[in-house]
Order: sequence, then structure tokens, then C-alpha cells
Amino acid sequence: MDHFQYKDGELFAEQVAVRQIAAEVGTPCYVYSAATLVRHYQVFEQAVAALDPMICFAVKANSNIAVIATLARLGAGADVVSVGELARALKAGVAASKIIYSGVGKSESDLRTALLEGVHQINAESEAELQLLSKVAVDLGKTAQVAIRINPDVDAKTHEKITTGKAENKFGIDIALARDVFARAAKLPGLRVAGVALHIGSQLTDLTPYREAYRRAAAFVEILRADGHDITQLDLGGGLGITYNDEIAPSPAEYGKMVHEMVGHLGCKISFEPGRLIAGNAGILVSQVIFVKDGIDRKFCIVDAAMNDLIRPTLYNAYHQIVPVKEPKANAELLKMDIVGPICESGDYLAKGRDMPALGNGDLLAVRTAGAYAAVMASVYNSRPLVPEVLVSGDMYAVIRRRWTIEDMMKLETFAEWQTDKTGVAAIQTG
Ligand code: LLP
Repeated sequence: MDHFQYKDGELFAEQVAVRQIAAEVGTPCYVYSAATLVRHYQVFEQAVAALDPMICFAVKANSNIAVIATLARLGAGADVVSVGELARALKAGVAASKIIYSGVGKSESDLRTALLEGVHQINAESEAELQLLSKVAVDLGKTAQVAIRINPDVDAKTHEKITTGKAENKFGIDIALARDVFARAAKLPGLRVAGVALHIGSQLTDLTPYREAYRRAAAFVEILRADGHDITQLDLGGGLGITYNDEIAPSPAEYGKMVHEMVGHLGCKISFEPGRLIAGNAGILVSQVIFVKDGIDRKFCIVDAAMNDLIRPTLYNAYHQIVPVKEPKANAELLKMDIVGPICESGDYLAKGRDMPALGNGDLLAVRTAGAYAAVMASVYNSRPLVPEVLVSGDMYAVIRRRWTIEDMMKLETFAEWQTDKTGVAAIQTG
């Protein structure tokens, strides 16, 4: 359930007309609904409440500080994978004691920053990382709480680019090798090897792979305990799928029940890292039609948002529902269209072969389910400035990231010294 609905023939974000936001901030723009974020967080929280877990929002899904702050106020922690995400979570008011630092390739300086900030836990993904973390912790005179991410070799049956729990994926330490790694890690100074972490993929629409992965993780915790490790933490990752089109995703309640069955008996402190489930359906990308042109077998609807603003359709063949901001008549004739952006690549599309009502120049469209892995994956390709993000709450709305200007985009660039004259202006090359 989300709070983007038609009212009186117009799409609303909560109690604000999307048209009004578009008129004020321009298009393209991302619009998020605070009530939807809150609702999704609370539904998940209730579904797993019996486990008394830590819920760490996966900041990679939507890292706007106002979005993180909305969740932090509800008590959410954060799962971060870079010092940039760590800084955002802290700025948004997430206590360091609720932050888990994950990621397959952390540098010495990343680990140092994480320890200095006092994060709750670092999820290590290789033996080399454990050795480096031990060295950094000893240097700083600290003890790092560590979970070791295992790779349970389970197929999450999701898109190949977002499956992470198979032996051929780069993530974690293969479950067959992990026991020895735990034994060696336990001897490293500066570490408290307290837990097991796993995350098998994203946009999972079936509980079966989860069930198998968690069964393997639970059995592994028992083995580790028998080996003498004091395993108190179990990080079960994120990945629960949502509906973009017609997928039927398991409910958080079914997921919670399954987790309880598989790992409840261990008595570990459980943590979850949901991202998409919380933020996915809490956002839309609003775009305006520039032109519609006829092809031989289809129409091309050229809009002002492009693959640099939302890369999911072209990168993962992802389906995003696209709806006109002005509600179409129930009996409106539908036409096959490719909805494409202005970028100079055939891969620049938001939808292909989509049945849409007739559209004309200036019409507004909303690309749905654009709250997760959308604005965060944007680029400035074709020198298209990053678009604004707006947060709606009830009848209020605020720009939570302003549109980049062309100057913002060039601000970090300079001419090489040999290209400039004494005034710093680029010398005109002659001859
Ligand atoms: N924890 C870890 C260790 C992760 O790698 C991820 C996602 C999550 C949690 C959150 O997963 P979620 O609950 O959001 O599924 N860009 C892709 C998704 C990449 C997911 C990467 N890891 C997309 O647009 O579909």
C-alpha cells in the first residue's frame, strides 16, 4: 500500500497534487511520501517484533538524509556500505550504536572511520579484511565487534545482477571455508568475532531460498558455538521483494514467521537490513512529455527523464509502472508506446511496448516504485544535472535535494594549468 492515489482525476502524493509539485520544482523530480515510508517500516517492525531485532535500513536504497531521518525517528538503525553512507546516517540522526557497516571492499581508512565513529558492528567479507580490521583496531586501541558474512551458496532466484548468495558471487566467505576463517579470526587481536551475517540477494519474491539460507546459517551458528565461539549476533540481511508489476511478494508477516521458525531458537540478537521493502513504493519519478512521435510499429513518447535519472529499466530490464498524472478516462483507448528519454543511446528508455492512453506535449507522467535504487543510482551522463527530491508529509512538502545547476555540475572541474593564461582563463589554442 502506498499514498500515491488519484483524487478528483489528479494524482496525489498524500494530500498534495503532484501537478503542484511539478509546477513549483520542475521536472523531472523525485517525490517521496513520508507516510508510506513510515507505514512500510512499521509493517516490517510488527512482522518481526517477536524477535526483538535491530532493523537497519539499507541506506543504499535511498540515501537522502531526510528519508533516513524519517526512519531514524521511528527507531531505525542503518546498514551502510561506505563512509559516505555512514556520514549520511549519522547526519540524519541514526546513533552509531545502531549502524552496521557492510561491504565487500572496505579500505583501511574506511575501517578506521567506522571504528572511530563507534559503529555497532562491522560485517567482514574476507580473511584479508579481518586481518586489516584487526590491525586498525589495535592501532586505535579499540575492540571491533565483527560479524563474518557467509556465502551460503543458495540461489535467490532473482535477477542475476542482484543475486548475492551463490558460490560464484563475490560476496561473503563460502560456508564451506568459513569455519576455518572463524577459528583464525578468533585469534586476531582487537576483534570480537560475535556473529554471522548473510544476504542472499534483492527483490526476492519467494521465501524458499531464504528458508534454506537461514537453515544453513542456523546450523552453522551451532557448529561455531560447538567450536567455542560466543556467537551472539545474526544479521539476516535484506532482500524482501515488492510489487512493481504483478509480482506476488511474500508479506512481511510470512517472512517474520519463517525467520522465527528457522533461527528463533538460537537466542541471537537478530538484525535485518531491509531497503527496497521500506522505500521502493514510497517514491515516484515525475516527468514531462517533450514530444510524441510515430514510428512504423509504435509510438515514441519522449520524456524529460532518462536513464541517467532512473537506470533500472535498462540495467535490469526492470518494469516500472508509468501512469499519467491526470487520471485517464476508464474507457480511454490505449496505444503501444516506448517511453524514452533524451539521451543518445537506444538503451535510454523507461518502458518499452507499454499500453498508454494518448499523450501529448507537456503531459505529466509518474514512474512508480521509484523510491529505492532510483535517485541513488543517478548519474549526470549527457551532462544532465541531478534532479530534485521532494518529501511530502500530509499536506506539506519540501525540497530535500535541490536541482543541480549547470554550475554545480562543472564546479569540480578545472582547466589544466598549461591551458590557462595568467588570468586563469582558458587560452585559445591557435595554429
Ligand atoms: N544488505 C546487503 C548486504 C545488501 O547488499 C543489500 C542490497 C541490502 C541489505 C538491501 O537489500 P533490499 O532489502 O533493498 O533488497 N540496484 C539494485 C538492487 C541492489 C541491491 C544491493 N544490495 C536494484 O535496483 O534492483
